[in-house]
Amino acid sequence: MTHLISRRAGALSGTVTVPGDKSISHRSVIFGSIAKGVSEISGILEGEDVLATIGAFKALGVEILGPDQGVIRIQGVGKMGLQRSADALYLGNSGTSMRLLSGLLSGQVFDSVLTGDESLSRRPMKRVIDPLVEMGAHIESLNGCAPLQISGQRQLTGINYRLPVASAQVKSALLLAGLFADGTTRVEEPVLTRDHTERMLSAFSNTGFRKTNPCEVQGSMSLTGQHFNVPSDISSAAFFLVAASLSPGSDLVLQNVGINPTRSAVLKILKMMGADIALTAHRESALEPVCDIRVRYAPLRGIEVPGELVANAIDEFPILAVAAAAARGQTRIRGAAELRVKESDRIAAMVNGLKTLGIEAVEFPDGMDIQGGVFNQGVVESHGDHRIAMAFAVAGSVSENLVTILNSDNVATSFPGFARLAESIGMQVTEGVGDYVSA
Ligand code: S3P
Repeated sequence: MTHLISRRAGALSGTVTVPGDKSISHRSVIFGSIAKGVSEISGILEGEDVLATIGAFKALGVEILGPDQGVIRIQGVGKMGLQRSADALYLGNSGTSMRLLSGLLSGQVFDSVLTGDESLSRRPMKRVIDPLVEMGAHIESLNGCAPLQISGQRQLTGINYRLPVASAQVKSALLLAGLFADGTTRVEEPVLTRDHTERMLSAFSNTGFRKTNPCEVQGSMSLTGQHFNVPSDISSAAFFLVAASLSPGSDLVLQNVGINPTRSAVLKILKMMGADIALTAHRESALEPVCDIRVRYAPLRGIEVPGELVANAIDEFPILAVAAAAARGQTRIRGAAELRVKESDRIAAMVNGLKTLGIEAVEFPDGMDIQGGVFNQGVVESHGDHRIAMAFAVAGSVSENLVTILNSDNVATSFPGFARLAESIGMQVTEGVGDYVSA
């Protein structure tokens, strides 16, 4: 088991590229596999979650070369070309893989079984099972959790579905099932969530992208292979945006970051807190907006996070909690109950970890209040959650001395090489292997 040790650092600087976007990487593999012809995709995240999706499609009979230096070459089998996997598809820690594949595999002519690690086996799957069953799918679960046994040979029918929770994973599962259903599948969202699936559907069907709510897909839609570059993950960039904002003298450039408006509310929230962030060199890749981001040190202040920004920054609350803990005054986060069903209960994990480091923080059912202060030295638990581990590594870099983060292996699910890249900009993060023994 790996733990991270993060020591107080000085100014952070440099021009770096964080790994590829996790959400877009998953979808590239999925769409490339069911499209006709070859897709060649660069910038793919070589994290364990995406490797799980790649492994699943290989098991379903798709020829995929790589990833090699972030490039994969997929020999797409077309919509009807997937084959039954002899074994259960093991999806590790990846909720995105499990939920999106549930939709896709519900529309196949063969049966499938989806399994995951301990954390994934605790996460709610009923939110995808219920609407898929409404479309005609047959899925057995263990009280609404994995393992999922999906029966093939079901003719799906398009439905109109209003999402009860803001979830891009549920929306995407239904759109993928809709590709194999009779008629039209429409998904209406109470709050717009990340729209990478819709953009990728447009890219792979060679149609222009126009955001609609409800979004819809036709069962008759055909997909052809594409060549594109996956932008860097704003959720990974966020750790360094906060680290540089908090470390006096910092001046850092993050290159080629995806800034899809349904994903980049972290930029708005940090700017509201006083961060000095500038976006330059705007461009587009695979119908996704991309730019370079320059961040310089600036003292942050606590804010009330606007409720309408929560869904579009949902993965950034661990690091935003660290920003809040180092800001002047109080930060209030509400309307974020979804944080309780991520890779860990992120409200409990952040509040408990912050308290261990001497920060005043209070837990609420759907959020937290954080009073800005100074991070003491301490040992915190990541609960096997990649984003909790990296958030506390940033806390360590502005702590009085050092912060040790236990159970950090899963950093590799979304950000392989995190410690190395952090060190290259001046953070002092080291990986310790084996059981942690306090000094
Ligand atoms: C994701 C959607 C979000 C996010 C997850 C990735 C996606 O989950 O938290 O890390 O790629 O669709 P929900 O849609 O369940 O909120």
